[in-house]
Amino acid sequence: MIRTRGLTKDFTVSRTHTVHAVRGIDLDIAAGELVAVLGPNGAGKTTTMRMLTTLIRPTSGSAHVAGLDVTARPAEVRRRIGYVGQGNGAGHNQRARDEIVTQGVIYGLDRRAARQRADDLVDALDLTDFAAHKVADLSGGQRRRLDVALGLVHAPRLLFLDEPSTGLDPHNRANLWEHILRLRAQYDMTIALTTHYLDEADTMADRVVIVDHGRIIADDTASALKRDLAGDRVEVRTAAGDGLPGSAAPPEAAQVAALLERLPGAREVAVDGARVTARVADSATAVPEIVRAAAGLGVVISTATGITPTLDDVFLNLTGRSLRETHSDGADTSPADAAPATTHAPTDRDALVAGKDAR
Ligand SMILES: Nc1ncnc2c1ncn2[C@@H]1O[C@H](COP(=O)(O)OP(=O)(O)OP(=O)(O)O)[C@@H](O)[C@H]1O
Ligand SMILES: [Mg+2]
Repeated sequence: MIRTRGLTKDFTVSRTHTVHAVRGIDLDIAAGELVAVLGPNGAGKTTTMRMLTTLIRPTSGSAHVAGLDVTARPAEVRRRIGYVGQGNGAGHNQRARDEIVTQGVIYGLDRRAARQRADDLVDALDLTDFAAHKVADLSGGQRRRLDVALGLVHAPRLLFLDEPSTGLDPHNRANLWEHILRLRAQYDMTIALTTHYLDEADTMADRVVIVDHGRIIADDTASALKRDLAGDRVEVRTAAGDGLPGSAAPPEAAQVAALLERLPGAREVAVDGARVTARVADSATAVPEIVRAAAGLGVVISTATGITPTLDDVFLNLTGRSLRETHSDGADTSPADAAPATTHAPTDRDALVAGKDAR
């Protein structure tokens, strides 16, 4: 469904300043996959999506979407894909259902078919109660669902969602996801989405692609990424020396370290005073094992904790930075994030349906 090779995008900001937003992306997405693209602000996620949806022209490299070259056959690509841009695309005075009908007509459906399709989507996305409300009067969550409906009006087999759930409360996020997953099954869709919610990428996506500084730095299932690039950790504190100032390690800590070394997949065993840490294959089995083994040696342990990694640990391991530092879950609605959304999204959708040339 998607195949890119060496895809790049430079933005010339001034005579002396060029932004290398995307620096050579090789991405393959197969039919039926749900792929989440993660990365800090400015990593190049939206820029990549806008190239794939023919809204901007790549600087170099190639991209095939739904089997078609995005540069050579943009109009055909547009008919085969749905795109829900970052931020709210819908925004004027029409009623929600009419907005879907209009969008259907713009996409070439006759009015009757567009009405039928609007009814199906209103139903599928639970918009019935406010289908007759003006778009401007909808809540954030309702609007986002309407955005998804608008992206699906021409029954695309491939859907791009740029931060579909950003700014929604947990209830609306869960609700939107329920709809996305149902629609995916119903219409047998391939979905490529970006998100700043690591838990969403972790639990919903078949595959996670991590982007940083315009490059893909990891691409695998969430569980493989966590296993290979972060790994479970255990932290054990010996009763001896625990709570004492300074970091002189009690002899018991060295004994615990030796025990940790023998656990399956053990690496990076480190002693810091009474605190001993290690990466292990499986923290759930490692913790009772270490407690039992320590007891066998007469070493008293005050705490033993298993830590399962998150996708943030994966990013931290790859880059030395935390995704949360640049973008905590709760910070998604900050003005800095909202700014590109309001400048990009409405024009993107208008450009797509109007068939404007890529810039
Ligand atoms: N039209 C443009 N002109 C100049 N620079 C741009 C343009 N669009 C994007 N950029 C720059 O390209 C880089 C990548 O931006 P992009 O919007 O793709 O990031 P992103 O990964 O989607 O970030 P976010 O998580 O904040 O949405 C940023 O440095 C951004 O400022
Ligand atoms: Mg973006």
